[in-house]
Amino acid sequence: MTVSRYILIATLAFLILIAKHFRGRKRERTLDAIPTIGATGPFSFITNRWNFLRNARDIFQEGYDKYRGGVYKVQSLHSWMVAITSPKLIEDMRKIPDEYLSSLEAVVDLISMDYTVGKPMHHDPYQVSVVKGSMTRNITVRFSEVRDEIVAAFSELLPPQDAWVPTKLNPLMAKIICRASNRFFVGLPLCRNEDYIDLNVGFAMQVAISGQLIGLFPDFIKPIAGKILSPLPRNLKRANKHLGPLIQERFSQEKEYGTTDWPDKPNDLLSWLLDVATGSQRTMDDLTMRVLAVNFGAIHTTLLTLTSTLNYLCRYPQYIDILRAEIETVTEEHGWTKQAMGRMRKFDSFLKEVQRVEPAACFGVLRKVMKDYTFADGTTVPTGVTVGIPIRAIQRDDCYYPDGNTFNGLRFYEMREGDGESLKHQMVTPTSDYFLFGSGRHACPGRFFAVNELKALVAHMLLTYDIKVEREGGAEMKWLAANAIQDNDVHFLFRKRHTNMNVVCNEHGGA
Ligand code: HEM
Ligand SMILES: *[C@@H]1O[C@H](CO)[C@@H](O)[C@H](O)[C@H]1NC(C)=O
Repeated sequence: MTVSRYILIATLAFLILIAKHFRGRKRERTLDAIPTIGATGPFSFITNRWNFLRNARDIFQEGYDKYRGGVYKVQSLHSWMVAITSPKLIEDMRKIPDEYLSSLEAVVDLISMDYTVGKPMHHDPYQVSVVKGSMTRNITVRFSEVRDEIVAAFSELLPPQDAWVPTKLNPLMAKIICRASNRFFVGLPLCRNEDYIDLNVGFAMQVAISGQLIGLFPDFIKPIAGKILSPLPRNLKRANKHLGPLIQERFSQEKEYGTTDWPDKPNDLLSWLLDVATGSQRTMDDLTMRVLAVNFGAIHTTLLTLTSTLNYLCRYPQYIDILRAEIETVTEEHGWTKQAMGRMRKFDSFLKEVQRVEPAACFGVLRKVMKDYTFADGTTVPTGVTVGIPIRAIQRDDCYYPDGNTFNGLRFYEMREGDGESLKHQMVTPTSDYFLFGSGRHACPGRFFAVNELKALVAHMLLTYDIKVEREGGAEMKWLAANAIQDNDVHFLFRKRHTNMNVVCNEHGGA
């Protein structure tokens, strides 16, 4: 779809939005008790949305500074966002049943899920429990394959050279992450198929853009807008080409053996899904959609984390040798295993600290209010608004993290060294002051895989390459509404790692 068509649709949608605004007035009166950040004049519903698009990060920070410990609201593009800020309210929110505050419905709205990733993901998202259950239990046994894919992907796509090679991170790392993740999800040879990789990397982008656009239309127009803008049908067709034969093969084996537990069944996502799928879930389209949906949840999140990690390694190169030493010591003793990844404490701390100071969203842990709900402190949030946490402001608050605006790569390592804290402060563990993976029952079910994969990726890079960034101070984050991505125009430079010995050889032995 061309950009001009998007702009046309966006303009139309904006006009419709203005009409929608006047219908939403009644609900807003219930919201009056919650203080607002932003203007309140007659045209504020336009100016506030425009500001949100450009300055959401500062708006949420301003609210946090003014109403720390309480709540405040911000006008986003689609609806009112209510920010809750105290550990007590956050604890409270974790316990509220889904019938009041729904995490799924918040995502359904955010990406217009019914039209972009498919109605089945909305009405019975069973792949979430498969990721949380079978997939997570199988990380240990499948880890050597993921490691193998990482090594193969880097040597093919970024062969180590003696001279510095300038590289744009996003397209390259997206491919590598897609390969490594799909080695785990669907195995060889599909995880290396160019078209399959392209499809999965591109799909997430298309869902994000078309989902936002469809979301601007009023509900009664959404089915039509959805039909026109949906990226799903063409992606599903393309994905079926790749996954269809695999799925057919599983079905025919089941038929032949008369059981879902036939000999030599692959230990992969398709099998884990088929282990629990029933009825209409056992169709090619449905299974393909699940695989696309898991990829949607896995690739770009990991990409954002990986690129900011590399940026901070270049910005604070003093950590590189510390981390290399830990990685080398641990892998020499334990190999490239999941267990080894678990033992890299300084590395875990560094990765976690990067996401503390540089989260890719300033507002997260979104929950849509399905029924009016009154929090323990008396605040009522009305049906239809979205509640969430100003994660960036909290994660930088001195009160939770001394010197909170300062990067300290070993911060969590030092905390773990304290008495009885040895198992705490790990990257995978959501707390009421750290939100990379969300919070409560709906915290990211893929986080155990994500952290292990991320460690394997970055560790391999640290031991294989020297890395630097062309721009002094590293790449900046570019914000659009409440989300950020790292500036992709800044090149990162890679060369074959020069150990001290190499340097001597090159200088004296080369001639
Ligand atoms: C560094 C990488 C990742 C980050 C930062 C991340 C972050 C998140 C966050 C913040 C949520 C929402 C949690 C909440 O609202 O409380 C989430 C949900 C989810 N994530 Fe991840 N994720 C990552 C990787 C993955 C991977 C690798 C998978 C799959 C293998 C995955 C699958 C999912 C799924 C299925 C959900 C929906 C959970 C639900 O609806 O209950 N994620 N993720
Ligand atoms: C892998 O997942 C399957 C399906 O849930 C399970 O039966 C099996 O025990 C898991 N493997 C390991 C080693 O945990």
